[in-house]
Amino acid sequence: MSDFFTMEPGETAAPVPDGPVLCDASAGMRRIHRVFLWAYDEAPGLARSAPQGDVARSAYVGEVLGNFDKLLHAHHESEDLLMYPKLQERAPACALHAELMVRQHEEVKKHLDEIEPIRLRWAQTGDAGLGDQLADHYETLSALLKVHLRREVTEVTPAVEKVLTEAEFAALASHGVDSFEKKVVLAYLGMILATNPPGDREAFFQEMPFPIRMAYRLIGRRLYRAQYQQLFPGRPVPATL
Ligand SMILES: [Fe+2]
Repeated sequence: MSDFFTMEPGETAAPVPDGPVLCDASAGMRRIHRVFLWAYDEAPGLARSAPQGDVARSAYVGEVLGNFDKLLHAHHESEDLLMYPKLQERAPACALHAELMVRQHEEVKKHLDEIEPIRLRWAQTGDAGLGDQLADHYETLSALLKVHLRREVTEVTPAVEKVLTEAEFAALASHGVDSFEKKVVLAYLGMILATNPPGDREAFFQEMPFPIRMAYRLIGRRLYRAQYQQLFPGRPVPATL
């Protein structure tokens, strides 16, 4: 089976500057992108999973979907602020690629803005028609992300590895985290671990600060499992750490 993160015919990577690799941007980005690919593959089914009028279900699922949307936006915002300006400044030959990725982020944001009011109304009413509309929007967004999240890794991060330091790349991960409740961050960490293959899972976890690893072991893993069971009743919970 070929790796999802593979360039397609007609696509070209940004020119990679000379010099040593300074950070592990490609591996790091693949690990984060896997959780979004998974989440938006599941989002349409989740939006259709509440029976008509089941407000308890639509409110719960709507909140989880809202957190995915917020996390996705925070991820793109961190790149727009902390990665693309540095790439353009330090590797001007990558400007076209950087512009393309920023435009794709804008496109994603447009969809997230359209999704929000529908998601909120569905969460409050459990109206199945709204759930269907929401699912259709998530299907479109998921298709867009399958292109963007792949191309950012195949075309851009090899150049980012030459111009961002380890500390600068690590700063992307913490951007916006403070605006989330701890339990959201810990359950999200469980999802990242579960959607990555063994090896990547351990590597990601090792890069987490010690207090977060402790909190994950104490409560995060349980939060992740409970959330998964509530979202997908009857499915076995995927392995995590
Ligand atoms: Fe990204």
